[in-house]
Amino acid sequence: MPHRRILVVLLLFVYLQIFSVDATLFPCNTTFSCGCSRANASINARIVGGEVAVDHSWGWAVSIRSYFGNHFCGGMIISPRYVLTAAHCVEDYIFSANLLSIVIGSNLLNGTDGQRFTLSGIISHPSYNPRTKENDIAILQLSSAIDFKNDNVAKICLPNVTPTEQSQYPIVTKQVVAIGWGHTTFKGNLSNSLQQVTVKTVASKESKCKVYIRNTNLQFCAAVNGGGKDTCQADSGGPLMFYSKSEQVWVLAGITSYGHQCALPDYAGVYTRTSAYISWIQSVVGNDGIVTVQQSKAVIHHRVSYFLTFVVFSLMILNRFYY
Ligand SMILES: *[C@@H]1O[C@H](CO)[C@@H](O)[C@H](O)[C@H]1NC(C)=O
Ligand SMILES: *[C@@H]1O[C@H](CO)[C@@H](O)[C@H](O)[C@H]1NC(C)=O
Ligand SMILES: *[C@@H]1O[C@H](CO)[C@@H](O)[C@H](O)[C@H]1NC(C)=O
Ligand SMILES: *[C@@H]1O[C@H](CO)[C@@H](O)[C@H](O)[C@H]1NC(C)=O
Repeated sequence: MPHRRILVVLLLFVYLQIFSVDATLFPCNTTFSCGCSRANASINARIVGGEVAVDHSWGWAVSIRSYFGNHFCGGMIISPRYVLTAAHCVEDYIFSANLLSIVIGSNLLNGTDGQRFTLSGIISHPSYNPRTKENDIAILQLSSAIDFKNDNVAKICLPNVTPTEQSQYPIVTKQVVAIGWGHTTFKGNLSNSLQQVTVKTVASKESKCKVYIRNTNLQFCAAVNGGGKDTCQADSGGPLMFYSKSEQVWVLAGITSYGHQCALPDYAGVYTRTSAYISWIQSVVGNDGIVTVQQSKAVIHHRVSYFLTFVVFSLMILNRFYY
């Protein structure tokens, strides 16, 4: 009898550990200086093809607009005067940044709660290769500073990873979230409301990634088995985010770079690996107030604490039944 109880309790524990990964509410620490918005993100990881984001749950989301006001790429706020995006989004505007603008603070492309900012400069990565899309990262400099007293806006946390672990962050098979107003189907229409989609990081040697990833130190893939969930045109430049459980904040794991059409089962999405560019970002932004969060430690810490919980729990049960 005791053995059966132990088994039941252990199975329950394993079940809870596995299914806690699909948590729907992601509470965040509002006193932390990055990675937490006015509203908690709520994610249903089982929804195929994305879902509408909770209003103001991604306060760093940026819509990049053409001269005519059309949304064409995403980005994210990293400090009062700087926004991060993909280099391929802005490659034609390096010398005419004043033609572009950004809108922040609204989940709707036409929302009246949005704030528009003009640009005073575009700093594309010096080694960006338009042909291979390596180093697909650029920094937009705003003409005036964002006021974070307006709680519709927030900045995202950047990952601080040791040089030896840079090419391992984010860890493979981790749940990550992409957001954007991009086309909801290949060659479809833009989405007027901000969409979020949950995918998993994929090992570079998997065929759906290997087919077209160019540099595994600077890029990584994310997808869902069987396809059906992905980023698409006009999501480019937007964030792929990892929820840091220890800090309860969202960290920028990747920048949406390219894919083959959208959500096809044999092709993952390719993302610029943000952890490889922190010192370059720092060199451009200076002391404008980007915030980095120590990463690999957090992940290791969680593994250790799960293991310890498991050991303590097992000992408690054994103690109860055998003495
Ligand atoms: C976010 O979640 C936390 C924990 O559940 C809760 O205390 C907090 O009030 C929530 N914040 C908002 C804005 O709903
Ligand atoms: C939230 O962040 C603040 C500031 O970093 C920190 O002092 C506090 O302990 C954090 N709270 C939780 C629940 O992690
Ligand atoms: C924004 O666009 C949506 C869909 O196109 C429309 O239903 C809504 O009325 C518009 N809102 C405003 C404030 O223009
Ligand atoms: C895109 O929007 C247009 C105009 O609103 C509509 O006629 C068309 O059916 C839409 N296309 C798709 C693929 O949803």
